[in-house]
Parts: sequence; C-alpha cells; structure tokens
Amino acid sequence: MNAISRLATAVSLAYLLPLTALAGEVEVLHWWTSGGEKRAVDTLQKLIEDQGHTWKDFAVAGGGGEAAMTVLKTRAVSGNPPAAAQIKGPDIQEWGELGLLADLDDVAKQQQWDTLLPPQVIEVMQFGGHYVAVPVNVHRVNWLWINPEVFAKAGATAPTTLDEFFVAADKLKAAGFMPLAHGGQPWQDSTVFEDLAFAVLGPEDFSKAFVDLDESVLTSAKMVEVFAALQKLHGYVDANAAGRDWNSATAMVINGKAGMQIMGDWAKSEWTAAGKVAGKDYQCLPFPGTQGSFAYNIDSLAMFKLSDAENRKAQEDLARTIMAPEFQQFFNQSKGSIPVRTDMDMSSFDACAQQSMLDFKEAAASGGLQPSLAHGMAASSYVQGAVFDVVTNFFNDPEADPKKAAQQLAAAIQAVQ
Ligand code: BGC
Repeated sequence: MNAISRLATAVSLAYLLPLTALAGEVEVLHWWTSGGEKRAVDTLQKLIEDQGHTWKDFAVAGGGGEAAMTVLKTRAVSGNPPAAAQIKGPDIQEWGELGLLADLDDVAKQQQWDTLLPPQVIEVMQFGGHYVAVPVNVHRVNWLWINPEVFAKAGATAPTTLDEFFVAADKLKAAGFMPLAHGGQPWQDSTVFEDLAFAVLGPEDFSKAFVDLDESVLTSAKMVEVFAALQKLHGYVDANAAGRDWNSATAMVINGKAGMQIMGDWAKSEWTAAGKVAGKDYQCLPFPGTQGSFAYNIDSLAMFKLSDAENRKAQEDLARTIMAPEFQQFFNQSKGSIPVRTDMDMSSFDACAQQSMLDFKEAAASGGLQPSLAHGMAASSYVQGAVFDVVTNFFNDPEADPKKAAQQLAAAIQAVQ
C-alpha cells in the first residue's frame, strides 16, 4: 500500500469511525402487519437505517394491538423491554408509573414539540411533565368506507344518518351484495359500537359515558338505543365474520363483494396499497350521524429507558425522525392517518386526509373532538377490556336484551375501577 492509499484508507476510516460509534440499534414493537400498514412502517425503518442505525422489527400481529400489549408485558416483566413500543393514551401513564420510560425532553425542546402539537396530544405524551412518548399520527375512528360502484349497482345512496345507513344496507342486501364487511373480533365489534354510540349520544354524552364513566349515561335510554342499533346492524353481517381480520373485511369492499365497512382510517392504508383513489374508487364518509365530530386515535411510540449510549442515541434519533415533516408526510400517506403536527401542508394528501384534517380542527374548536374508547384513548385498558366483553357477548347473541346490556356495561365498568 503506498502512502497515498494509506492516507486515503486512514481518512475513510476516520470518517467511518464516529459514524459507527454513534450507530445503535432500535427495537420497535408495533402491530402494523397488514399490507398497507407494513408499507407505512417500512418508511420509518428506512429513515432510521439511512442514519446508520439498525432497525430491529418487533411486529406482533393482531389488529387493535391486544396481542402486542400482552407480549410487551412479558418482555417488560423479564427486564428486557424494547427501545420503543406502540403504547397509547392513558396506558402511557401506567407505564410511566412503573418508572420504565425514558425522558425525551431534549429532543422535544430541540424540535419545539410544545408549539407543534395540539394540547390534547401533549398531555397524553407526557408523564410527570416530561415527554416519554412521541406521537406518530392522528387516526379518525368514525368513518364509513363505501364502494361507490357497488352502491350504484344496488341503487343505494351514501348515507348521512343512521336511518339512511339501514336503507342503504337493505338495498345492498336486496341486490345480492354483502352490505357490511365486518370482522368478528372484540376490538372490531367495539369499534362499530363506539361509532354507533358517537352518533346516538353525541360528543358530550359520549364523553360522559366513556371518559367520565358516568353511570347515568351508561344506563340511559340513549345507550339502550345504541345497543338496539348494534343488534339491528348484526343482521347485515355475513355468517363467516367470526375471527376475520379487519384488512380481510376491507378487501371485501375493495373487490366489490361488500358495499361498506365501519372502520378507522387505517382501512385506507389497504385501499392505498391496492392503488385505489380516494373519492373515485372509494368514498370515506364520516360515520352517519357523526358529521363534524371526530373520535381520535393517536398512535404513539413510548420509549423505554436504555443503558447503552449508542442505543440511546438511536432511540432519540427515532423520536426526532418521527416528528420530522418528511416522516409525517410519507408515513401518514401510507397509513391512512393525518400528521400530528399542526403545521403541515396537506396539499399532497388525498381527499379523505384533507377532510380529516379540516374536521379535526373544527371538532377541536367545537367540542366534537373525543377520544376513542375502542382504541385505548378514552379510558384504561381495564375499562376498555370490560366494554369489549359486554359488547362482543351482546353482538353474538341475537336474543340479547339491549336494556340489560346497558346495565351490564355500567356494572362491568364499575367492577374494574
Ligand atoms: C391502531 C392502528 C392500527 C389499527 C389496526 C389501531 O388500534 O391505532 O395504528 O392500524 O389498530 O391494527
């Protein structure tokens, strides 16, 4: 090796060394395993790897994340939590109380999270006044997805009220289509229940019921009406729904077998992955009766304390990357959600996302912005689990009494408080 090439080697090594020294590994637990979700999470993996870090994917399949949370608890109990995990809403406080979460204040200060995030989001991401989680996006739960071609064939019109919803469902049924694509899993049953509750109760009583856990609203005549609507809706779901994944249900609407799906806007990730265009190949409608209101579900990655300095650096870079505009745009365009930053230019987003952002801002100003119960934003996972049990038992029993179900709901919630 001559002197020049020795120098060149030394220079390139010198250049590489600090880079390698700062490169760490981030293990990220999430449940984004459908085709569309995977496309979204791949964008994050790439941005992390581009910074020289190693991405260790810890994906636990199962919509709604119940399975992922069980696996996370096992890992945490054995003293080996991942660097980051998708933990949402009030659960972040519980993990914070265990003393396991890392402080992200330095990154937050540097990127001015306090001025970029809505106050409702800041409150959820902090424990004891310190940032311990980074918000990824804002999903809206109260959506109805329809296939307009199927609607046209059946002579049905896009519903704006619950009554119109059932009229459309009847037309679809009469024309030989599956009216409503649904997956019979507790979190999906409760997603539908929550949307019905949002429509029938309105945002104020929805909040009294699922945030304040107010017994008088939980057992009210309106809540009985919600269960009655859920029972009616069961008549439009096919016999093979039990256990079906949400994305398989979405596929049935995409391929024209079914006319509608009630689901949060992660369903859009499947339409996008299938190359379908919002407003043309499919329509996103606010769930009938909930126009102007917004049931939010914010994905967030909570960070666990790490001892290794390089991994800690990678973890901070992960948080920084997630809040950066580039990630907020690309990830959310694939995921179906809207950016959590309030300063983003929405012109490159599709019609559903633009509508969602407008409605989010309007609902925030009017009191229509409410946390999703079915997606862990409104109450603890214990309350959520109690609601899932009552709702799914009711949904699967055609003889069940709506009045009794409302009583059971209140009692089940009471028992876990
Ligand atoms: C999560 C979404 C996810 C959906 C389906 C929701 O609870 O917030 O990110 O796409 O579940 O698994």
